Amino acid sequence: MRFKPLTLLLATTFLVACGTQTPTALTPTETMKVSVGTDPHSFAEYEKVAIAHVDLHLDVDMGKRQLVGHVRLDLERHDPEWKRLVLDTRDLDIQDVMGVREDGTFIGLSWVLGQSRGHLGQPLTIILPMGLDEVRIDYASRPEAFGLQWLNEQQTSSGKPFMFSQSQPHYARTWVPLQDTPAVRYTFSATIQAPEELMVVMGAGGNPERLSPTGLYQFDMPQPIPSYLMAIAVGELEFVAIGPRSGVYAEPDWIDRAAQEFDVLEEMMDIGEALYGPYRWGRYDLLVLPPSFPFGGMENPRLSFLTPTIIAGDGSLLALVAHELAHSWSGNLVTNAAWRDLWLNEGFTVYFEARIMEALYGERVENMLAKLDWDGLVEVVASADEQDRQLVRDLSDRDPEEAFMRVPYDMGRFFIDWLEDRFGREALDQFLRAYFDAFAFQSIDSETFREYAIEHLFERYPNRATVAQMDEWLYEPGMPDFAVAPNSSAFEEVDDIREQWLGGEIASDSVVARDWSVYEWQHFLTGLMGQIDQAGMFTLDDAFGLTQTQNVEILYLWLQLAVETEYAPGLERLEQFLLEVGRNKFTRPLYAALAETQWGRPWAIEIYQRAKSGYHPLTQQASERALGLSSDIIEPQ
Ligand code: BES
Ligand code: ZN
Repeated sequence: MRFKPLTLLLATTFLVACGTQTPTALTPTETMKVSVGTDPHSFAEYEKVAIAHVDLHLDVDMGKRQLVGHVRLDLERHDPEWKRLVLDTRDLDIQDVMGVREDGTFIGLSWVLGQSRGHLGQPLTIILPMGLDEVRIDYASRPEAFGLQWLNEQQTSSGKPFMFSQSQPHYARTWVPLQDTPAVRYTFSATIQAPEELMVVMGAGGNPERLSPTGLYQFDMPQPIPSYLMAIAVGELEFVAIGPRSGVYAEPDWIDRAAQEFDVLEEMMDIGEALYGPYRWGRYDLLVLPPSFPFGGMENPRLSFLTPTIIAGDGSLLALVAHELAHSWSGNLVTNAAWRDLWLNEGFTVYFEARIMEALYGERVENMLAKLDWDGLVEVVASADEQDRQLVRDLSDRDPEEAFMRVPYDMGRFFIDWLEDRFGREALDQFLRAYFDAFAFQSIDSETFREYAIEHLFERYPNRATVAQMDEWLYEPGMPDFAVAPNSSAFEEVDDIREQWLGGEIASDSVVARDWSVYEWQHFLTGLMGQIDQAGMFTLDDAFGLTQTQNVEILYLWLQLAVETEYAPGLERLEQFLLEVGRNKFTRPLYAALAETQWGRPWAIEIYQRAKSGYHPLTQQASERALGLSSDIIEPQ
C-alpha cells in the first residue's frame, strides 16, 4: 500500500525565492504534489534524480546543541527533463538553497518545505533548473534532533560534553537534508569544526589519532554508502591501535579496558575475510560511546559504534563486535533497498556473526548461541501478530523502527542455517561469497536475492530444496515446519541443575555454576522466570553475587527476576542501572516489567523522570511508551 499523495498548502507566496532564478515550465500541480517515493519511508524521487556525493561543512556548537553550516549535494540525473529535487528533512532549519554552476558561482533556487508528516519529517522541494547538477543548502539542526544525542559535562565520564549520531533507520534527515533511503548510495566528504578540546570522528576515512590543535577535522568516504550509515561523534576521545588496520576510540576512562576487551578485533577481521572475501573499507575501528548509547552496536562503516556495557572484562560479550563487523559485508556492502528487506541486512549478519564466533571459540559456544536465539525466536513467533512473523514485511504505513524485531534477525539467520543444511556448507559459502561480490556497493530487495539464489543455488544444485520452500521462509508467517532447529542438547546439563535446585535437591552453593559461560547463565536464569521466589533469590545471590555481576546480559535477566520477586537488593541495583544505562534493549523491557506491577509503575516513573535528561531521544520515546506515559505515537496520515 502507498501513502496518499500529500498536498502541499502551496501558493506562490509559500515558495521562498532566493535569487534571480524562478521556476520554469513547471505547472502548479507538479510542484504541489509530493508523495512518498518508491521507498515508503522517504520522499525522495531517486529514480529521477539521485544524490551521488555529499559534501558536509558543519560547525559543532556544543552549547546550543546544534550543527550549523551547509551541505553540497552532487546530483545524478536519471531523467534529464525532471525539474525538481525532493529531499527528506525533519526538524531542520533551512536557511538558504542555492544552485552551484559549473564555474563554481551560485544562483538562488526556489524551494519549499512541505507539511510535517510525523516521523517522516518534511519534504524539502527544490526547483532544479535544467542542467544544474549541484545544490548547496545552508541549514542548522535543532537541539531536539532525533538522530543526535548531546550530553553535557555532567553526563560523561570525561567531564567534557559529548555528541553522537544514530542515523538508522531514518534519522539522518534530522541532521542532514538528503535522500534518506537505503536505496540511494553516495560517497561523501566532510569538514567539521569542533571546540578545540574535543575530537571529531566519523564513519569515514580520516579519523584522527590525536586532537587537532585547531578543532578542524576532515573526512572522506570514497565507498558509496546509504544515508543510514552516516555517522559522527564528538567528545574527549583517545585512540589505541589494536592491529595494523584496527583500533579503538573511547573516553579516557574507558580506553584501556576497551583496548583490552577488543584485542581479538584484527583476528575477527581475518576470519571474516577468509569466509566472505576482502574487507573493502580500509580501516575498521570501534568507538565506545557513553552508556546512554541506545543500542548494543551500530555498524557505521569503518567505525562501529558500541555501548560500553559490552565491556565485561573477560571478552564474554564479543559476539556483538562480531555482529557489527559482519555488517561490513551484509548490510554495508550489500544493503537492503528498503526497511521491508531488513532481513537481508540483519539475518545474514546474525548468521555471519555465528560463523565468526564458531571460528574463534568453537562449535560448542556457537551451539549455545544458536539455541538461545532459537528459544527467543520461538517465543516471539508464538506471540507476534501475523504480519510481524514474516521475513519480508510490509511496513509502508508503519515506523521503520518497528522493523527491528527478532524475526528479521533470528528467523533470517535460521533461514540461512537451513540453506546451509540443504546445500552444504561448502556450496553455501561459495554462493555467499559470490553474492557479496555480485552486489557489492548495491542496495537490493528480497526479490533480487531470491532470483540470484534460484539461479546460483537452487538450479545449480538441484533436488536439495525447492523454491516453494524458500518462498515459505520469505513470505509466509512463522517458521516453516522443515526449519532446522539447533542441537537441543546444548543446555541439558543446565536444565538438570535448574530442576534439581528448584526441587530442593541441591543447595545453591553446590550448583556447579562457577565456570559457566554467559550463555549458560542466560539459559539458567531465563528458565527461572515465574519459578523462583524471594528466598531463592537471596540464596543464589549469596552463592554467586549476581546483583553485582559485571556482565550486563546476566545482570539484565537477574534484574527481571528481581522485579518479578520484589527482591530488594536487586531493585536497588535496578534503580542505579536505569539511571546509568540507556541501552534500549534493556531499559525498555525493564520499565515495561515495572509498569505491569502496582508498586512498580509509580516508582519507575519517578526513576524515569530523573534519568530522562541523560537518555537518547529514542530511549526516551521507548521508555515513555513502556511506562504508558505517551499518547504521542505519531502516525503519518
Ligand atoms: N543495525 C543494528 C542497530 C540498530 C537496531 C539500529 C535497531 C537501528 C534500529 C545493529 O547491527 C544491531 O543489530 N545491534 C544489536 C546487536 C546485535 C548483536 C543483535 C543491538 O544493538 O542490540
Ligand atoms: Zn545488526
